[in-house]
Amino acid sequence: MRAVLLGCPGAGKGTQSKILSARLGVTHIASGDLFRSEIDKKSPLGLKVQDYVKKGMLVPDSVVIELISSKLDACKEGWILDGFPRTHDQAEALDKWLEQNGQKIDAVVFIKMGEDEVVKRLTSRWTCGGCGAVYNLLTKPPQAEGKCDACAAALIQRSDDSEATVRRRLMVFNDLTAPLISYYKHAHDYFEVEGSQPMDAVTATLEGILAAKKA
Ligand code: AP5
Ligand code: MG
Repeated sequence: MRAVLLGCPGAGKGTQSKILSARLGVTHIASGDLFRSEIDKKSPLGLKVQDYVKKGMLVPDSVVIELISSKLDACKEGWILDGFPRTHDQAEALDKWLEQNGQKIDAVVFIKMGEDEVVKRLTSRWTCGGCGAVYNLLTKPPQAEGKCDACAAALIQRSDDSEATVRRRLMVFNDLTAPLISYYKHAHDYFEVEGSQPMDAVTATLEGILAAKKA
């Protein structure tokens, strides 16, 4: 299974990719998670990208494409892409990689969400600093305030989840990533899912789409 989840910040790409990749036994490749991990490690790549990520701007295409290509090379059995591609050049680079490797995308799914709802969601998101589990004070609160249910580590907020930065990320999405919808509508198996439904309902719809492609 090779699937791409498209969607604005906060649409639920990460939440759904984690569930689906575990159920389908494929790798979840999340460009934002990879960058945050490099930033935490203070690696050369982390130092190169940290200002872009913090400000809600896109990391240059050449850097993203090099990183994701190496991940794709390492998991030929299948993947769910979350947060990549995000520009026309990234989509073309992915197509080139697929062609060179004799593979194709089974499904591109756009998770649709309204902007005001996304701002509420992201300013209420907390992430476990230990295991990376994602919570939401409005829709998925932890059992004990500020602590992860799974590993009890402290919950932290992403540096790009302030309202001003979320609004900038939404502008960047509208300018550079939303045009990929028409790119994929014409070139690949394309689906849309309403992201404002409860999490389980979004998962069920996505599973239905992917199961039909697998059959
Ligand atoms: P990235 O990490 O990809 O962030 P994003 O696209 O802005 O998306 P988010 O991770 O904020 O949202 P999500 O859709 O994953 O939502 P989630 O499931 O967490 O990128 C960060 C930065 O890295 C970029 O700004 C850029 O700098 C850089 N970058 C990354 N990729 C790049 C690329 N390809 N090119 C260039 N730069 C790149 O859900 C959000 C919240 O809502 C959670 O609290 C969750 O619990 C809750 N929730 C989820 N679903 C539901 C539901 N159905 N109902 C109620 N609550 C829900
Ligand atoms: Mg995410």
